[in-house]
Amino acid sequence: MSNVTIKSPREVELMRKAGQVAVATLMAVDELIRPGTTTEDINRFVHDDTLKRGARPAPLNYHGFPKSVCTSVNHVVCHGIPSERQVLAPGDIINVDVTSVLEGYHGDTSVTFYVGDPSPEAKHVTEVARRSLDLAIAQVREGARLGDIGAAIQEFAEGQGCSVVRAFVGHGIGRIFHEAPQVSHVGRSGSGMRLKAGMCFTIEPMINVGNYEIDVLEDQWPAVTRDGSLSAQFEHTLVVTKSGCEILTKRPHALKNSDRFPWLFA
Ligand code: MF3
Ligand code: CO
Ligand code: CO
Repeated sequence: MSNVTIKSPREVELMRKAGQVAVATLMAVDELIRPGTTTEDINRFVHDDTLKRGARPAPLNYHGFPKSVCTSVNHVVCHGIPSERQVLAPGDIINVDVTSVLEGYHGDTSVTFYVGDPSPEAKHVTEVARRSLDLAIAQVREGARLGDIGAAIQEFAEGQGCSVVRAFVGHGIGRIFHEAPQVSHVGRSGSGMRLKAGMCFTIEPMINVGNYEIDVLEDQWPAVTRDGSLSAQFEHTLVVTKSGCEILTKRPHALKNSDRFPWLFA
């Protein structure tokens, strides 16, 4: 609880730089999203692009993770492992989760991309995940509670007929990839720790078409929906301010293969 670090303005500047590296790489991945691309193509690109920017890909060898990025397709909830054998097909949705370490600080961000023109159900869960993150971010300011974040996500996503994964949470971030606090994507507003300016954490709701249960095979990374339904996720790294927050992984412009259906909940 009180082991949540408050970043100094100098550290926030380093977090901003790390966040901007992660988002620059993710924006460039957009150009690779098409049928025929393999998830290993994405991994190779992310690895090389991260090094070119003077950073290091945090996933590689993190608790034994074998690749430089997580690529989670369709019913894979998170921690998908890139593979030469996994070829993107028309109608797939794929979350690409990039974490860069620059000068010792982490930036962590993900989006779900559309491959071609996915099913209405796939678009629905993706847009619910996108909007869930936006609504959660709108709760963040000094004095707000951690539970306000989960409540905003849960209320919206469940109201849209989707479910919110419980088994994975957002996290404090800084010199350490995953630090306190844990940021649940479900909760009760007015409950939980009070946010303070200078706290840095991620919000990264995983939203399922079916129920929220997931499976992870023993000694393996990828998490999948137990019922085989589609799952989508978006993630930002942010810093709490007095009046709100700054999104450290803010995208400079819209993505071609995501950010495409703004009218769905207009
Ligand atoms: N980027 C993921 C997150 O949002 C964590 C991936 S851990 C890895 O927290 F080892 F799978 F890369
Ligand atoms: Co994260
Ligand atoms: Co991430």
